Amino acid sequence: MSRIIIFTGKGGVGKTSVVAAHALRAARSGMNTLLVSADMAHNLGDVFEIETGGERAEADKNLTLLELDPGKIMREHYPDLNRSIVQMISTSARSADIGSGFMIPGFEDLFMLLGIRDLYESGEYDLILVDCAPSGETLSLLKLPELLEWYMEKFFPVGKFMTRVLSPVSEMLYKVQLPGSDAMDQISVMHRNLVELQDLLRNPEVSSVRLVTLPEKMVNEETKRTYMYLNLYGYHVDRVFINRVLPPQPENPFMENWREIQKQYIEEMESVFTHIPVTKIPWYPEEIRGTAAVERLSRELPATEELFASREAESDIGLWTGGSEVYEAVEEGYCLKLRMPGAKDVAVKLHDQDLEIRALNMLRIIPLPNVLRRAKIVRTELTEDELHVVFRPEREAL
Ligand SMILES: Nc1ncnc2c1ncn2[C@@H]1O[C@H](COP(=O)(O)OP(=O)(O)O)[C@@H](O)[C@H]1O
Ligand SMILES: [Mg+2]
Repeated sequence: MSRIIIFTGKGGVGKTSVVAAHALRAARSGMNTLLVSADMAHNLGDVFEIETGGERAEADKNLTLLELDPGKIMREHYPDLNRSIVQMISTSARSADIGSGFMIPGFEDLFMLLGIRDLYESGEYDLILVDCAPSGETLSLLKLPELLEWYMEKFFPVGKFMTRVLSPVSEMLYKVQLPGSDAMDQISVMHRNLVELQDLLRNPEVSSVRLVTLPEKMVNEETKRTYMYLNLYGYHVDRVFINRVLPPQPENPFMENWREIQKQYIEEMESVFTHIPVTKIPWYPEEIRGTAAVERLSRELPATEELFASREAESDIGLWTGGSEVYEAVEEGYCLKLRMPGAKDVAVKLHDQDLEIRALNMLRIIPLPNVLRRAKIVRTELTEDELHVVFRPEREAL
C-alpha cells in the first residue's frame, strides 16, 4: 500500500528542505516517489534547481515533482461550482468585476488537498510526500468538512430541489442568483471527496504528519500547538525534525551562547515528543540548493527502513492511541487519556497552557487546547495502562 507523508511547520523553518531530503532518499532506494507542493509559496523547483511550471517534472530517477495549482484543479473538476459562486457574490454584492480568476478564501487549500487525493487514488506512486502550507493554514484544513459545511450553509441554505423552485423568485426579490443544479451536484461531489480525503489522511496505515521546527521559543510554541491540534483531530504525527541545530564552536563565545539557548528549546521539544522520534538537523554554512545539498541533508535522516516503515494495522475504533493523547467529553468537562503502560507514581501539574506530567525521572509536556485554558484539574486516575486527567473548564469557556 502506498503512503502519504505530510510535512508542516512554521514558515521558513525548512519544510521544503526536509521534505526534499526525504524525497531524494526514497527515490534513491527505488521507491517511485512523488513530491507535491501544496504551499501557495511553491519552491520545490528552486531547491532542485529545475523548472517546474505547474506540470509534473522529473527531478531525478524515480522522483517526480509537482507544484499543485488549485485554480487548475478547480477548473478541471469543478468548473460550474466556482462560476456560480462568483456569480452569486457579484450579483449580491453588486461588485462590477470579480473576474474569472477569483477564488473564495480557503478554497485554494481545499482544492489542493483534493488534488492529493486524486494522485493517491491513481496508484502511480509508492510514496507521496506533501510539502504543506505553514502550520497556521494547514490547521484550517483539518477542519475541512466543517469549513465546507459553513460554505454550504452560507451559500446553499436550501436543497437542490428548493434551488430549482426558488431560483426565479430569489433573482426577482433579492437580486441573487442561486446556483444551478450542476453546481449543486459539484458541491455534493466535492463534499463527499473531502470526507473521503479526511478519512485517508487520518488513516494511520496510509498517512502521517511530520513536523519541522527550530530550537527557538516562538517556533516551539507553534509546533506544540500544531501537534496538539493534529492530535485532537485524529491525525497521526510520527516524526519531528529540529532543524538548524548549531554545531559546537568552542572558540566562539557568541555561538556557544546561542548553542546554550538552543539546547534549552531542544530539551523542551524532547519533553513534548517523548513518544515520537525526534531528529536533529545541523545548521549548514550555506542554503539547501541543488541535489548535492539535498543529498547532504538526507544523510542526517534516520535509516530508510525506519523512515518509510509502514504502519501496523490499528484495528480498534480508529483512534490513534500509540502514546498520543485522546480527549473525551465527560460529565465534569473533558477527560484526557494518555497511554502510560506500567506507570506508578505520576505527578500532574498545569503550567501556562501545558500539562506537565512527571513519572519517575521523565517529564512529558502536553500542550492543551484553548478550551482547557485556565481549567481546573478535577481528578486524575491511573488505570493499568492509561492516565486519565479530568478537567473542568472555566464556565464561560464551556
Ligand atoms: N539546515 C539548514 N542549514 C542551512 N540552511 C537551511 C537549512 N534548512 C533550511 N535552510 C535554508 O533556509 C531557507 C528556508 O528553508 P525552506 O526549506 O525553504 O523552509 P520552508 O519550506 O519551511 O519555508 C532556505 O533558504 C533553505 O535553503
Ligand atoms: Mg517551503
